[in-house]
Amino acid sequence: MGSMRGAEASSRSYGSSHEAARAFAEYSGGRELHRIVYSSAQIAERVRDIGLAIAGAYPAEAEILVLGLLKGSFIFVSDLVREIRRPIHVDFLVASSYGSGMESSGEVQLLYDPCAPVEGRHLIVVEDIIDSGTTLNRLIGALMAREPASLEICALLHKHVAPNLQWEPRWVGFDAPNEFLVGYGLDHAEDFRHLPFIASLPAA
Ligand code: IMP
Ligand code: MG
Repeated sequence: MGSMRGAEASSRSYGSSHEAARAFAEYSGGRELHRIVYSSAQIAERVRDIGLAIAGAYPAEAEILVLGLLKGSFIFVSDLVREIRRPIHVDFLVASSYGSGMESSGEVQLLYDPCAPVEGRHLIVVEDIIDSGTTLNRLIGALMAREPASLEICALLHKHVAPNLQWEPRWVGFDAPNEFLVGYGLDHAEDFRHLPFIASLPAA
């Protein structure tokens, strides 16, 4: 299937919703997107389910630290923590493994380290998407060295293409297709992070 301009793609995915079509074209600036993969309603439903599952997975006295991997997880984390109806703390990590292209460079740089103490706390590392697994493979080992009481991974999207993922996520929003996805925090060269839905880009 060929690629579509924003408004056209949206009207196909949303039926005859002119409102959605207009919003799609506005958000993308008319740039080419391939298709909408997850609508904002689908995402909200999964985020609610995951929040509920997380809240029920720990004893009441557990000190939980939700650690979002920036920048891609910023919208997911902000929606998710509001669905975890119990006391938690929230902080972020900045790790970068991608340049401006669509291929992982394999290098992971830690650009910001959380201020929050990790030792003895139940860590939930929140990732936007697991692709090659490089980011998590490098990062989780470093976090484990700080001796958290437990460590779980929550990923909004999992492509299931990582050849040797060392830690599998406990909570996954969607098993994602192996396409380059943007929106709801995910970018391509910093574009499209603010889309309220997740779309795929045309193959390069
Ligand atoms: P990994 O280290 O290859 O698993 O990639 C993880 C990071 O790469 C994610 O946190 C994203 O920032 C980025 N990434 C991987 N796949 C995609 C994609 O399809 N769209 C946008 N960003 C992606
Ligand atoms: Mg990125």
